[in-house]
Amino acid sequence: MMKRIKIFDTTLRDGEQSPGCSMNLSEKIEMARQLEKLGVDVIEAGFAIASPMDHKSVKTIAAAVSACTVASLARCTKGDIDAAWDAVKEAKHPRIHVFLATSDIHMEYKLKMTREQVLQRISDMVAYAKGFCDDVEFSAEDASRSDPAFLAQCYTNAVAAGATTLNVPDTVGYSTPQEMADLIAYLRAHVEGIEKTDISVHCHNDLGMAVANTLACIRAGATQVECTVNGIGERAGNASLEEIVMAIHTRRDFYDAETGINTRQIYRSSKLLSNITGVPIPPSKAVVGANAFAHESGIHQHGVISNAQTYEIMNSTDVGIPQNTMVLGKHSGKHALREKLVSMGYELSDEELESVFTRFKDLADKKKNITGSDIEALVLHRRNAAVGACELMSHVVNTGHGVPNTSYIRLKRGEDVLEEVAIGTGPLDASFQAINRMLGLEDVRLDSFSLNAVTDGEDAVGEAVVKLEAKGGAVYTGTGLSTDIIESSIRAYVNGINKMMEAAD
Ligand code: KIV
Ligand code: ZN
Repeated sequence: MMKRIKIFDTTLRDGEQSPGCSMNLSEKIEMARQLEKLGVDVIEAGFAIASPMDHKSVKTIAAAVSACTVASLARCTKGDIDAAWDAVKEAKHPRIHVFLATSDIHMEYKLKMTREQVLQRISDMVAYAKGFCDDVEFSAEDASRSDPAFLAQCYTNAVAAGATTLNVPDTVGYSTPQEMADLIAYLRAHVEGIEKTDISVHCHNDLGMAVANTLACIRAGATQVECTVNGIGERAGNASLEEIVMAIHTRRDFYDAETGINTRQIYRSSKLLSNITGVPIPPSKAVVGANAFAHESGIHQHGVISNAQTYEIMNSTDVGIPQNTMVLGKHSGKHALREKLVSMGYELSDEELESVFTRFKDLADKKKNITGSDIEALVLHRRNAAVGACELMSHVVNTGHGVPNTSYIRLKRGEDVLEEVAIGTGPLDASFQAINRMLGLEDVRLDSFSLNAVTDGEDAVGEAVVKLEAKGGAVYTGTGLSTDIIESSIRAYVNGINKMMEAAD
């Protein structure tokens, strides 16, 4: 029988704590719901003690998700464990995830604890967590650089105190696949009671080996893998969920294993995360990059036309990549749009469908052929309309060489209509200044700006992404969509400002 590998997703914890990847509460909930559709077994929703906002988001996700286990991270202290339990206790399947470092370097310089103290703390705090929750995971931080015999004793204590999952992190991404596999084999032979628990691995990507290390551990007996969508995470990131899942799926013959992931939701999950964080998916990224299924060379194209398997080991539809053929047009109605969305795996409420349909009609006026990618972009951008307090009504931009760049912007905010004109160094600078002035925003800094075509062709839809830095240093990501690049940029700016104002409320 094939081995069932549990997928523990830490996009909302280890992923979210990496620079440029922060999300607000509604974005985290949207991402958690998508992870549930994707079929992950565990969502690590956050680190409840870290801030009141982290606590609130773990608690809200715990209540919103029912098909997966929801975990909160906690250090080995009573305060952390109390906060973690309070945040996950309403979940249908709660988990407390406690961790303590076990390498000599971490114990001496960070924890300032002896081996005996660490062993005692593990026993005490796993037992304390177990008093609240049946499902307790214990992680030995920096496990891969720890003394194996001492590490085995740490895990033995954790099992004796009630841990149900033992996680083996390669915290600094130092290990090689063979070393990780050997470590798992060693622990299986030396940890008392390990056969009663799940063996988990958590690999970072500092040397680009996180996925290879994770897969080697599966061969050696790991039954849970920790990973993030698009591999986001501290420094070079965590092991990428989509790469692990598709490696297991494509090479079932080799791994003799399977996951509960609905692979057709992979691309959607990746795009949603990229859209929320404004962090683009690199074109050559395995599985979800724009070039992952593109064949440029004549020899490859010829082979693929004769028999797709000559050069394709996976099918793009298996990971849910929309086909770029014309799917709807100007005369398509709401019913056709809903059917198309359902066939693409999207289930929208009536209210959401209404908002996507309005934008679809708008787009169909400007663009002859609406493709699957266009529709996907419209769905991902529905948050602009729903969350924002300000909405772009109209704009007029005057730009050229040797003339001042001016922009007139009209926004709707609740019942109020606001308008302003500004001069700037370029059309976007003028537009952003007009918006700042009408909203009385003085300390907003444009950190970065990028523009990408969603589809090919002259009438392609352009997606703009802005990163805005507010006074205290917090960064907000805004995205905007239009066939007109100035409009998509203004929409992105308004979206970012809305998030900034929402956070300040
Ligand atoms: O990388 C790491 O060691 C971690 C642990 C907290 C699991 O993220
Ligand atoms: Zn980590």
